[in-house]
Amino acid sequence: MTADARLLPVDTESAAALAAGGLRYGLVDTTDRAAFAAWDQADARGFHESRLSDTTIDANFANLAYRRTTGVWDDTIPDAAVPVATVSTWVAELTVPGPAIAPAWAVSSVTVAATHRRRGIARALMEGELRTAHAAGVPLAILTASEATIYSRYGYAPATSVATLEVDRRRVEWTGPTPQGRVHFVEAASARAVVEEISARAVRRTPGEIDRWGGRFDQHFGLIDPDSDRGRSIRTARYDDADGTAQGIVAFRLVEQEPDVVRLEVEHFTAATDDAYNGLWKFLLEHDLVTSIRARHRSIDEPLPLLLADSRAVRWSEVEDFLWVRVLDPIAALESRRFGAAGRLELEVTDALGFAGGRFSLEVGADGSASVTRVTSVPDAGTGAAGATGATTEATATLTLAVNQLGAILLGGIRPTVLAAAGLIAAESLETLALADRLFAAERTPHLSIVF
Ligand SMILES: CC(C)(COP(=O)(O)OP(=O)(O)OC[C@H]1O[C@@H](n2cnc3c(N)ncnc32)[C@H](O)[C@@H]1OP(=O)(O)O)[C@@H](O)C(=O)NCCC(=O)NCCS
Repeated sequence: MTADARLLPVDTESAAALAAGGLRYGLVDTTDRAAFAAWDQADARGFHESRLSDTTIDANFANLAYRRTTGVWDDTIPDAAVPVATVSTWVAELTVPGPAIAPAWAVSSVTVAATHRRRGIARALMEGELRTAHAAGVPLAILTASEATIYSRYGYAPATSVATLEVDRRRVEWTGPTPQGRVHFVEAASARAVVEEISARAVRRTPGEIDRWGGRFDQHFGLIDPDSDRGRSIRTARYDDADGTAQGIVAFRLVEQEPDVVRLEVEHFTAATDDAYNGLWKFLLEHDLVTSIRARHRSIDEPLPLLLADSRAVRWSEVEDFLWVRVLDPIAALESRRFGAAGRLELEVTDALGFAGGRFSLEVGADGSASVTRVTSVPDAGTGAAGATGATTEATATLTLAVNQLGAILLGGIRPTVLAAAGLIAAESLETLALADRLFAAERTPHLSIVF
């Protein structure tokens, strides 16, 4: 597997398909500020954002240069230096049940200019990136989606969910454990100096989280443009445990919605321990003069309501699919994680794009580690009898599923039984589904807490 995705050339099949439509597909030189700026502005335009300021471009240029940054250019348009489509990718470290780490081809900045939509550009880019990732030996691709209707056609499926959480502060009475440490207000730069280390530990606790990059913290802490209104409005605080070790960071803003109605908006929340989680939430919830506290992209399995006398002080909204997973190599993907129980299951996987199809035997030991082999012999059509090598028998518990559903269940956030009820997974018996539920269960509810 290659670690440096930036160096890989663009996929030749997609380049040829785009060239047939008069378009040029290529890599952006991320050491060339002007080329990067044109790409960055195209990305922002694609997402209907305002034109980027030089300050933001400088920050992105400094922070995102490590990514494989690709574009599509139309040399016939007046402003031909600005790409008509963008994608950026990098090899992220995805936390999988165990917890363990799986390398994953993170796909971001997928845009096609409004002038060039619906002529197959996104398809060429998405398929091209999958071929590149597969050839590089990366077992998974991941993304967060602006719409739920775009990515299933490429073999992705939602594997985690998020919710927006809003707390009515006037109803808050903390009844949870008393935090053992202390919260300190710190300047954003000081929070920034410790957050990477805390975050590296925090993201390893929960399947579905990915390693962070520095620019994302700068954004959350208002450090990209500290003198802007937003930059100045952000407050940062650190949680130190009883031994004085930093275990959590929050960043938040107070927004006056109308006179005497103030909402505390959580911009960033990192907690490496349960104690830090409690300490930071207690601090946020006990702010005077605040009407409500709102946090986005929270886990659907958040313990917060259980820490309050009135659990209904917490309201959930915007419950949505969030991390989408696409399996490229079922053996490496499955073997990267620990499973919830011992057992044996066969998976008959179909993949319209041809990367991950086949029949796989999943054997999980008592310690939850898996050994996965490709089953070379399939039952004779019609009879169900084992083929030449006798590797498969009628008695084998088997799930039949598209590669999308393998991605959906991989992290343990979506139960095979639920997908079967929706007609998306087939099994010969309820026992097989119950076994699959037990095997794929994760130690914590999977959750990704950032958009990328
Ligand atoms: C989404 C987007 C990238 C699609 O680009 P595009 O070049 O028009 O897409 P294509 O022409 O390659 O279409 C590929 C397929 O996706 C479908 N599709 C494209 N956009 C879609 C959308 N927004 N919703 C549902 N389906 C969509 C097409 O119908 C086509 O289907 P088919 O090939 O199975 O028949 C583009 O509309 C865009 O930039 N949107 C705004 C930014 C955005 O939301 N990006 C996604 C970030 S996660």
